[in-house]
Amino acid sequence: MAGEMREDMEQLLYTEEQLQTRVRELGAAITRDYAGRQPFFLGVLKGCFVFMADLLRAVDLPCELEFMAVKSYRGTSSSGQPEITRDLTRNVEGMDIVIVEDILDTGVTLDYLRQYLLGPRKAASVRIVTMFDKPEGRDPALKGKIEADYVGFPVPKAFVVGYGLDYNERYRNLPYVGILKPECRD
Ligand code: IMP
Ligand code: MG
Repeated sequence: MAGEMREDMEQLLYTEEQLQTRVRELGAAITRDYAGRQPFFLGVLKGCFVFMADLLRAVDLPCELEFMAVKSYRGTSSSGQPEITRDLTRNVEGMDIVIVEDILDTGVTLDYLRQYLLGPRKAASVRIVTMFDKPEGRDPALKGKIEADYVGFPVPKAFVVGYGLDYNERYRNLPYVGILKPECRD
C-alpha cells in the first residue's frame, strides 16, 4: 500500500521533536507580545491545520480563531491574483489579527490577504506567523515587502511535505517535515 512514510523523503529537515519545541517558543513569543490584548488567529486552510492546533495550545491568552481558504493559482501565470474560496464569517473590524500560515513561499497569498484584512475588512493590525519560510522562493516584486513576524524554521527552495504541507493532498499527516523524493511526485 502506498502510505505516507519516511522512505518517501529525500531528506528529513526537522523532526517531530524539533517542530514541537519550536512551536512552543513561537506560542510563548506571541503570548508575550500580545499581553493584555486579545489576538484573533486566522488560519489559512488547509495547510495550517496542524500548526494552528499546536500553536494555539502554546498561547496563553484569551483569543478567538477563524479559518479562510485562498486559492493561489500556482503553476499557472505567476501574476494570477489569489482568490478567496472561503471568506471570514464574522466582522473583524478593529481587531488584532495574527495570520497563521504553513509556509511562506512567493508571498503572493499573504500579501493579498494582508491587504484584504487591513483594507476592506478594516483590521486594526495584522501580523504573520508561519511555521516554514522559503526565502529564496519570494516573488522578486515582494522581496522585503512581505515577511513574517514570527518564523518557525527556514526551508530550502525545494518541495517540502509534512506537518500540514501536502503534495497532491497527501503527506499532510506526517509529524515531521522533509523534502519529497522526485520519484514520489507523480
Ligand atoms: P505563496 O503564495 O507562494 O507564498 O504560497 C504559499 C502556499 O503555497 C502555502 O500556503 C502552501 O500551501 C503552498 N506551498 C508553497 N511551497 C510549498 C511546499 O514546498 N510544499 C507544499 N506546499 C507549498
Ligand atoms: Mg497552503
